[in-house]
Amino acid sequence: MVLPKFSLCFWLLLSSLVILLINCPVKCDDDEEDNLYQGINKYRASLNLKALTRNDNANCLAEKLANQFKKQPCTNTTGANTVPGTEPQFSNYPDLLSKCDLAISNTRDGNVMPACVPGLVPSLVLANFTKSLYSDSLNDTKYTGIGIGSEDNWIVVVLTTNTPSGTFAPYSSNGVNLISKSGLIYCSVLFLVGYILLL
Ligand SMILES: *[C@@H]1O[C@H](CO)[C@@H](O)[C@H](O)[C@H]1NC(C)=O
Ligand SMILES: *[C@@H]1O[C@H](CO)[C@@H](O)[C@H](O)[C@H]1NC(C)=O
Ligand SMILES: *[C@@H]1O[C@H](CO)[C@@H](O)[C@H](O)[C@H]1NC(C)=O
Repeated sequence: MVLPKFSLCFWLLLSSLVILLINCPVKCDDDEEDNLYQGINKYRASLNLKALTRNDNANCLAEKLANQFKKQPCTNTTGANTVPGTEPQFSNYPDLLSKCDLAISNTRDGNVMPACVPGLVPSLVLANFTKSLYSDSLNDTKYTGIGIGSEDNWIVVVLTTNTPSGTFAPYSSNGVNLISKSGLIYCSVLFLVGYILLL
């Protein structure tokens, strides 16, 4: 059976709607991250510094790292209380980077700052960044972008720079290719959802 074009279009539209509905609860769950994002930029505004702009790849890495941290208990030596130089290292860090389309070469100048706050109480979370050693990084003009991820009691901030070794830009030099690749994946998902609905 050959599907007429309009019905294909209809299913595509319907599937997009379904995907939006599925995505929404996830997006609407990011209150802690939004609060922190706004809090950090208010802090920067109070120092007459430019706001940090969101960076999707840094965001991705922050989520992946938060997922690693969540297995660790909150103690007075983890997160924002960590003594510089004793931060936990993840042996799978290169994997996490590549899952986010990143590489060491374009993330070296970035800054990863984890914090553990039971219940992610917004005021405590913000204080863990603006009133700890992290504030030295947050008030640094070299940082221009930010990604935030959280899991359980952990929240991770990743700062990015404008320098080539800190842009957190996708490592593929061919940006067009990358876009069409993700477009292809998106399309396949749409078709899959449409197909499932048809059954
Ligand atoms: C962390 O807690 C332990 C035990 O509760 C305590 O002995 C230690 O001094 C604390 N460390 C810091 C840096 O507060
Ligand atoms: C960070 O959060 C912890 C709770 O995990 C809290 O006890 C501590 O006071 C906070 N640190 C700062 C500097 O606000
Ligand atoms: C950033 O913080 C450091 C340490 O607290 C301070 O010495 C410096 O003056 C601050 N910079 C700005 C731009 O506020």
